[in-house]
Amino acid sequence: MEKFNSQIEVKNDGLYTPIVREWSLEKYQLVGSYCDIFTNGMKFKWDQLVYIDLFAGAGHATIKESNKTYLNSAFTAMSIPVPFTKYILCEKNEKRFDALSDRVKRDFSHLNVELIKGDSNKNVQKVINAIPPFKRGNTLLPFCFVDPYSLNLNFSTIRALGSTLMDFLILKALHMDANRNIETYLKDKNTKIADYLGKSNWRELLEEDSSYKKNFVKFLADQYQEQMYQIGYQKTKYMHHIRSNQKNLPLYYLAFFSKNPRGIDFFKKIQGYVKPQLKLDL
Ligand SMILES: C[S@@+](CC[C@H](N)C(=O)[O-])C[C@H]1O[C@@H](n2cnc3c(N)ncnc32)[C@H](O)[C@@H]1O
Repeated sequence: MEKFNSQIEVKNDGLYTPIVREWSLEKYQLVGSYCDIFTNGMKFKWDQLVYIDLFAGAGHATIKESNKTYLNSAFTAMSIPVPFTKYILCEKNEKRFDALSDRVKRDFSHLNVELIKGDSNKNVQKVINAIPPFKRGNTLLPFCFVDPYSLNLNFSTIRALGSTLMDFLILKALHMDANRNIETYLKDKNTKIADYLGKSNWRELLEEDSSYKKNFVKFLADQYQEQMYQIGYQKTKYMHHIRSNQKNLPLYYLAFFSKNPRGIDFFKKIQGYVKPQLKLDL
């Protein structure tokens, strides 16, 4: 199978285009490569393959460092040679949603795309309703990409979607958000971490293990993994770390979850395509 180029440069089209940092290209590469291998490998095994993007952005993004514009994750996923049978794209920000909608109409009207405006944590039932019906003889496998800036992703959202057979690639802004804001999150009334992990007793769990106090990122990663395991996902962590290009600082990681051993094989394979991984103690 020929490797799909998932860093697709485009001309400035005059529509609203967010500015992002250069490491976003690594993310596009990972998502694009996964989607490519997923649809190629699964097209004869499932009748319908669905791509869900809970934080879709505007479709295009301009790299701050080079001023070049690229297709973002959702648009890269729509450009693969064997497309998904349906795309469900969600975006809360009005300006981004409008640009996304205009670009989808202009460039991808040949695909089955449903756009959902608003907060994905609140719209989870709308997302579930947008997934086509399936039954024996009409099988369906969804892949969900989850790309929030911060820890603004409730575990209840993932639990509701993950109750079906669904693969997830979830961006975890643990270094960017959790580490920077730990003092605020530790305050009694703050519910950010409880919502993120779906565990109201997380402060007690943190107290129980002194090693976690020095490594809050590891605490969150372990607790998240445990929560995913509770809803039927694998125990082992499969993740891709992204670090800043100049200072080599850890920024975030992309965690992959599947209930299907083939999905895990696909993820391991595409990790070899993208920049070599740097090991972190997670
Ligand atoms: C990191 S960006 C995603 C970028 C996009 N996936 C890409 O590849 O360029 C996060 C996006 O999610 C949107 N967003 C933030 N909170 C949201 C929420 N609760 N529900 C839906 N979209 C949200 C933001 O407006 C932003 O466009």
